[in-house]
Amino acid sequence: MTQALHLDVDPGSDDAVMIALALALPAIEMTGISTVAGNSTIENTTRNACRILELFDRTDVPVARGCGEPMVGSFETAEWVHGPNGIRGDLPDPSTGPINRHGAEFIVDQAREYGDELSIVAVGPMTNLATALALEPSLPDMVANIYLMGGAAMTTGNVTPMAEANFRNDAVAARRVVRGTRPKMVGLDATHDATVPLSRIDEYKRATQPLKTVGAWLEYPEEVRKFGGGEEPAVHDAAVVAHLIDDSVLEFEPYHLDVDTTMGPSRGAVVCDRWAVTGNEPNADVAVAADTERFRSVLVETFERL
Ligand code: RIB
Ligand code: CA
Repeated sequence: MTQALHLDVDPGSDDAVMIALALALPAIEMTGISTVAGNSTIENTTRNACRILELFDRTDVPVARGCGEPMVGSFETAEWVHGPNGIRGDLPDPSTGPINRHGAEFIVDQAREYGDELSIVAVGPMTNLATALALEPSLPDMVANIYLMGGAAMTTGNVTPMAEANFRNDAVAARRVVRGTRPKMVGLDATHDATVPLSRIDEYKRATQPLKTVGAWLEYPEEVRKFGGGEEPAVHDAAVVAHLIDDSVLEFEPYHLDVDTTMGPSRGAVVCDRWAVTGNEPNADVAVAADTERFRSVLVETFERL
């Protein structure tokens, strides 16, 4: 059965791998993309989304430029991870651009057009999604699922000891989305195990396009790979789409979550009521583990068709 997906992204190299995976999967219909700043500026993430679609000759997929700043403060971008313009690989400047619609408004448009056939997959700071929720409070009831790549429920953060990058970058938006959308949260608890072997990356780097560029996106700097505790890079965002194709990739458990929005060292931290001590009912499904071999099989089986 085909799944309709709207992707909210901050490409970003792992976002790019996720987009490539979704485009290559016949079972997925990508209805649209909204961009948000985070890994890089909104100019770069929007340009990169257009670049990626052009690489795969899929400029039929509309791109809507979204929020360039978080609800409070400013984004801490990550060019040191993803490259000077926010993405690795030497893709040419895009010849296409975004549609004349704000990314948050476009999310609402997509929900109204595709309804309960649509899943929303947000893998950058949650600013667009939180804004869409303010524009249309019934958004969660209109669509099939809302998946988030973000947060660290029962493990340490990757930008601070307590917080994961997307949730730290816009903690207020993350809290609004966690509290208001009954999300499926795919955080570092699972995505640290969504890794790709270095040998596979080397193989892709020697291939022809577009696989050669996928190899560049996967080739994280050594200082980044340590976050997963090992040598092999975690492709955080791609874990979400891989699970949509093979639901043995991620294991979910229901928990009550909140997000810390204080201005201190734990800003952006996920407050996961693991032992139900608050008496609050679960408000989210949390990915607590990823099957590395299943994840790798989905990527290899999909990308070998490129
Ligand atoms: O912490 C990992 C997340 O932050 C990924 O979505 C990555 O692309 C960055 O946005
Ligand atoms: Ca991302």
